[in-house]
Amino acid sequence: MTLSRSQIIGVGSFLPEKVLTNQDMTAIVDTNDEWIVKRTGIKQRHIAGEGELTSDLGREAALRALAAAQVKAEEVDLLILATTTPDNTFPATAARVQAQLGITKGPAFDVQAVCSGFVYALATADNMLRLGQAKTALVIGAEVYSRILDWEDRGTCVLFGDGAGAAVLRAVEGNGQLPERGILSTHLYADGTRYEQLYVDGGPASTGTAGHVRMQGKEVFRFAVNSMATSVRTGLEANGLTVEDIDWLIPHQANSRIIAKVGDALGVPNDKVIVTVQDHANTSAATIPLALTHGFERQLFKPGDLVALTAMGGGFTWGSAILRW
Ligand code: COA
Repeated sequence: MTLSRSQIIGVGSFLPEKVLTNQDMTAIVDTNDEWIVKRTGIKQRHIAGEGELTSDLGREAALRALAAAQVKAEEVDLLILATTTPDNTFPATAARVQAQLGITKGPAFDVQAVCSGFVYALATADNMLRLGQAKTALVIGAEVYSRILDWEDRGTCVLFGDGAGAAVLRAVEGNGQLPERGILSTHLYADGTRYEQLYVDGGPASTGTAGHVRMQGKEVFRFAVNSMATSVRTGLEANGLTVEDIDWLIPHQANSRIIAKVGDALGVPNDKVIVTVQDHANTSAATIPLALTHGFERQLFKPGDLVALTAMGGGFTWGSAILRW
């Protein structure tokens, strides 16, 4: 058995040019900046231009992650893209990005776990790398939620935005022992009985349309806080670590109140929690790599820092990843 871990060696993100501020939203639905900021912390969201697809956003984020990692596209032998808003029903958006980047080796496939998608994709890539099925993985979270929002429902349309983030992972072998740095563990969960609390009312098999996001906000809020905090605790315990060991907590960026409550539930101080939701709203599978890139570009993460990622989304799905930077 090889003793290897997957290390994140570069991250990158991409947001479409067009910005809709909360003030702009008041021209679309009956809302106001004060309500949105107080309830969610969101100040603006980016919206994909006409003809701009999930694959376009994902490709740009991937190019930036590859540049940050100083890895050539030809070296990638596994591409996993997390999305709820694929370009087409098939082929996988991952396959389109693979072709656009000129990657010719290994599998490319999408992962569908809504807002937990990046953590699910990261866990899948980590397992494949540690099994020796690939050496260099590109893991992308990319979404154009603007295409599945009901722009007449103020309870949901103000909450989401479009964007993408990506990470390059490499399998690194230790010298007779597990490397200290890299992904230490991942924990994934789902509870399909909560379907009606967060879903899209369409799909190729049910309606033949893409449908729109439907949500029971209060239920989602409660479940999100509890599930994210619990999955981080489980991840820490699995590694013999405690909350005090966390240097950076990166929760899914849906809502600043949920993020603050996850930090409080765990007892992680605010200055160790990365918050970017104000700038891009909830970009679903893209929020964690967007927040990771935010920290990476500001050189917040020092070698050896313990970083905890956690997400919750439709399904319900949730989970965590604990990594040593
Ligand atoms: N602007 C102004 N008023 C709004 C509004 C908006 N965009 N959206 C809803 N309202 C109104 C409601 O109509 C309601 O009015 P009423 O009292 O006259 O009926 C009032 O605000 C309160 O609505 P409610 O839904 O009870 O608010 P809330 O405190 O639960 O906050 C959310 C709503 C959506 C912000 C909150 O439930 C939440 O953040 N949930 C989690 C959502 C999420 O993050 N989902 C993705 C997870 S992956």
